[in-house]
Amino acid sequence: MYRTHTCGELNMSFIGKDVILCGWVQKSRDLGGMTFVDLRDRYGITQLLFNMETNNELCEKARKLGREFVVQAKGKVKERSNKNLKIFTGEIEIDVDELNILNRSEIPPFTIEEETDGGEELRMKYRYLDLRRTSVKNNIILRNRMSQEVRKYMDSVGFIEVETPVLIKSTPEGARDFVVPSRMQPGTFYALPQSPQTLKQLLMVAGFDKYFQIVKCFRDEDLRADRQPEFSQIDCEMSFVERDDILNTFEGLAKYLFRQIKGIEFSEPFIRLPYSEAMEFYGSDKPDLRFGMRFTELTGTVKGHDFAVFDTSEYVGGICAEGSSEYTRKQLDELTEFVKKPQVGAKGLVYVKYNADCTLKSSVDRYYSREDMKKWAGIMNAKPGDLILILSGEKKKTLTALSELRLEMGNRLGLRKKDKFIPLWVVDFPLLEWDEESKRFYAMHHPFTSPIPEDMPLMETDPGKVRANAYDLVINGVEIGGGSIRIHDAAVQKLMFKVLGFSDEEANEQFGFLLNAFKFGAPPHGGIAFGFDRWVAMFGGQDSIRDFIAFPKNNSGRDVMLETPAPISNQQLNELRLIIKTGKSG
Ligand code: AMO
Repeated sequence: MYRTHTCGELNMSFIGKDVILCGWVQKSRDLGGMTFVDLRDRYGITQLLFNMETNNELCEKARKLGREFVVQAKGKVKERSNKNLKIFTGEIEIDVDELNILNRSEIPPFTIEEETDGGEELRMKYRYLDLRRTSVKNNIILRNRMSQEVRKYMDSVGFIEVETPVLIKSTPEGARDFVVPSRMQPGTFYALPQSPQTLKQLLMVAGFDKYFQIVKCFRDEDLRADRQPEFSQIDCEMSFVERDDILNTFEGLAKYLFRQIKGIEFSEPFIRLPYSEAMEFYGSDKPDLRFGMRFTELTGTVKGHDFAVFDTSEYVGGICAEGSSEYTRKQLDELTEFVKKPQVGAKGLVYVKYNADCTLKSSVDRYYSREDMKKWAGIMNAKPGDLILILSGEKKKTLTALSELRLEMGNRLGLRKKDKFIPLWVVDFPLLEWDEESKRFYAMHHPFTSPIPEDMPLMETDPGKVRANAYDLVINGVEIGGGSIRIHDAAVQKLMFKVLGFSDEEANEQFGFLLNAFKFGAPPHGGIAFGFDRWVAMFGGQDSIRDFIAFPKNNSGRDVMLETPAPISNQQLNELRLIIKTGKSG
């Protein structure tokens, strides 16, 4: 028997017991006639004691143990004289009488401790060592707990998990596909699913009215902290449902996960915010509602005072930062620099300090009187002690810039607390997005998303105004999931393809299998998919999803541990009838 217990389970109730533990040497210390070794496994750390007086030879052996050696220790559980009450096993130690080295280890390239000296790249290269660190290990354990709970909930409300293939045909999520060349049919390619969207719709046609799957999806897109080229979705679809059936079912899932994993109870229904309001008041389709600072439009109020910047702006709007009127010149300069950054995109920043003594000081005092600014403060519900920040310009750009400024102020004022969660549904997204470059509409979600019935007449006359029966679950400014009620009517689908500029042939070539299936009795259906990695990372209190994936890719899409992507052999290329072109694509 290798072990009787784990390194995380022994405490005072085991005193006097003979035990066998296995694990990795975290560190060892020599103190006078004693050697202490911290032994670590998945469950925790237990201190081993080697006493020179009672067994000199064994103590010598323990002294020679290197970091990360794999050992087996047999001995008796003993009360510790120097207790560490911070860890579960901290009141005991094992008085070892037999030590077996199961495997040696080279000196690890970085210290396997919370405060490690290893940089990101090095830790990724030796990810299996990084995964030994408590925080990273705990992230993976959290992920497991969440997937177990998801399955429990989905089973309890009657969903069945169905696996769908990974070698498929291009899917309509809007990113680039990863493709896999076929050897048996040279010159043809499979695509890896960007999501199982079409397949889950086929499962509805097949009659499985409640489907879900925790599934890998693949998208060849630019990577960010919350984007990996392969990621996991909790993918769901239901038949004979309307929007609210879906929102209620999955609000149930969200509340269940909050309760089971975070111990947080949401008794009220989640806020439902139309997309148009999200944009107008927060400048974002994923507003962080942990704090207020809603935008107030001032366009009409500020014009006509010879201040050309405002006079020529399509939109002028501001936010009110509570209790920040004492912002210094330096802080205001920093904010001005911030809004001018290319990724924020404003030209400048106007501020009004509504001082605690009721005086007002602004960067546009030359153009506006105290009364004018008092009026703005009134419209914005600002109180003495508040700071008003105003941006102006083209409407869409200014709303986006104001959104960035709002988040920045939220950060500066400590209003975006990791342990506070405000979930909401953003609903009624536009169905279509106009692309100026290609002068055509794209589906904002995907081409199977249905229009809101009352907007149907606009499909032919003003497609850009049509709202979709689509919804996103947003938590703390992160898009956790999104979905829609689908089109199940062939005529509406045809119209949608027409608006998107697909000819009948193109639509058939790409999605013929789905359109065909719809000829055989497609039930009304809809669904949603959640970004599982994002949800786990959020519950783990972090922005980056990378550390919640056992073997992630870096920002260039590389797995530096596996050293991939990598060239393949000429023989493989020959079999696939592929030739590598050098130089730029085009
Ligand atoms: P969507 O494209 O919105 O919808 O994706 C659903 C959710 O998946 C997460 N997500 C990602 N997570 C990590 N890395 C990525 N590269 C990445 N891309 C997306 C997000 C997102 O909300 N088939 C539809 C769903 C449906 O209509 O049912 C779909 O895939 O959290």
